Amino acid sequence: MIHSLHRWKRFGLLPILLLTILAVSIHANAAPESTFAAAKIEVQKLRKQINDANYRYYVLDKPNLSDAQYDKLKHRLIELETEFPQLITPDSPTQRVGAPLDGDFPKAPHSIPMLSLQDVRTKSEFVKWQSQIIDQLKLKPDTAINYVCEPKLDGLSMSLLYKNGHLIRASTRGNGRVGEDVTNNVRTINSIPLVLRGTVPQLIEVRGEVFMPLSQFNQQNAKLAAQNEQPFSTPRNAAAGAVRQLDPKVTKSRGLMFIAYAVGETQGITLSSQWQLLQTLKDLGFRVNAHNQQCHGIGEVETYISNWRTERYKVDFPTDGAVIKVNSLALQHQLGANVQEPRWAVAWKYNPEEKITKVLSIDVSVGRTGALTPVANL
Ligand code: IVH
Repeated sequence: MIHSLHRWKRFGLLPILLLTILAVSIHANAAPESTFAAAKIEVQKLRKQINDANYRYYVLDKPNLSDAQYDKLKHRLIELETEFPQLITPDSPTQRVGAPLDGDFPKAPHSIPMLSLQDVRTKSEFVKWQSQIIDQLKLKPDTAINYVCEPKLDGLSMSLLYKNGHLIRASTRGNGRVGEDVTNNVRTINSIPLVLRGTVPQLIEVRGEVFMPLSQFNQQNAKLAAQNEQPFSTPRNAAAGAVRQLDPKVTKSRGLMFIAYAVGETQGITLSSQWQLLQTLKDLGFRVNAHNQQCHGIGEVETYISNWRTERYKVDFPTDGAVIKVNSLALQHQLGANVQEPRWAVAWKYNPEEKITKVLSIDVSVGRTGALTPVANL
């Protein structure tokens, strides 16, 4: 030690001077408080701009930024989060894709069961259902009930739990009482807000359908066919498979979408009708179906059903009918539910239509087990 000190002395004051310069320059490189504070403000501003752009693009279908402008904001946010990792939050738009899961999906019990719906297929079945509820509510037989008619989406129902505006759990329906926690995968779906907009309730469980748009389904199947792989059989299977992937990256690549149509548990919000509920979901930043409609009495329901019979072929989402819900939540509450289904809503399924067509050719596909499946091209 002494020996080495002597060696330093031989160089006089030079080493001390150099060390001082080094120390000063290290200090200058370490971010002063003001730089950090400025970064924090910029990060918050960028997140707001990116969340707004996502909302306009994925929920409203009205983009306000070009791809280049959007990418610029996202790059800057990534740059700042890389420089100041302490600023990263799970809700940041850069954090949608998490790490793969290495086991089963955790169980997710539903505090309010996720029920299914009873079906009707004809006007007389609908009239029968309506007279039952009119009886139960002790209304005059000719009362015109207010309904909300909505397309019935053919995907998988999903429960999204938001605490103080932050998404904390996403779960599948499962058996209606207990589902699976698929939060990491569902976070990759861009039409699902990680943070709610506007005035947020303390707690809200938003329910709706995750589905694969038909254009996506066709695109994905064309890609699979080009790679000589088995195509998805239906958009519903494709969506269900995508949600149950272990790697969120795979879920993201499947281009799923979410449309909200109901709520489960809530705290700090009062709702009085299904129509108001849909408007509230819209205000909170969700996509709701543009084909939802208020219908007064059975006549307007019939018109909706007959329009939707043809309109349903023009939309980009998979649908297998319509859902008719009693609009008043007080009446819904009075009607209640049996073990499987609520009494205040029915699903109207269309009977298959008969048309004459021509068989153009028959393809035979060979399954993994060697089973042959003939498919007619009509
Ligand atoms: S409301 C109590 N609205 O249909 C049921 N469900 O067969 C409340 N579904 O599990 C659900 N579109 O996954 C509702 N506009 C819609 C719907 C809808 C599709 C699904 C839902 C439910 C199933 C029942």
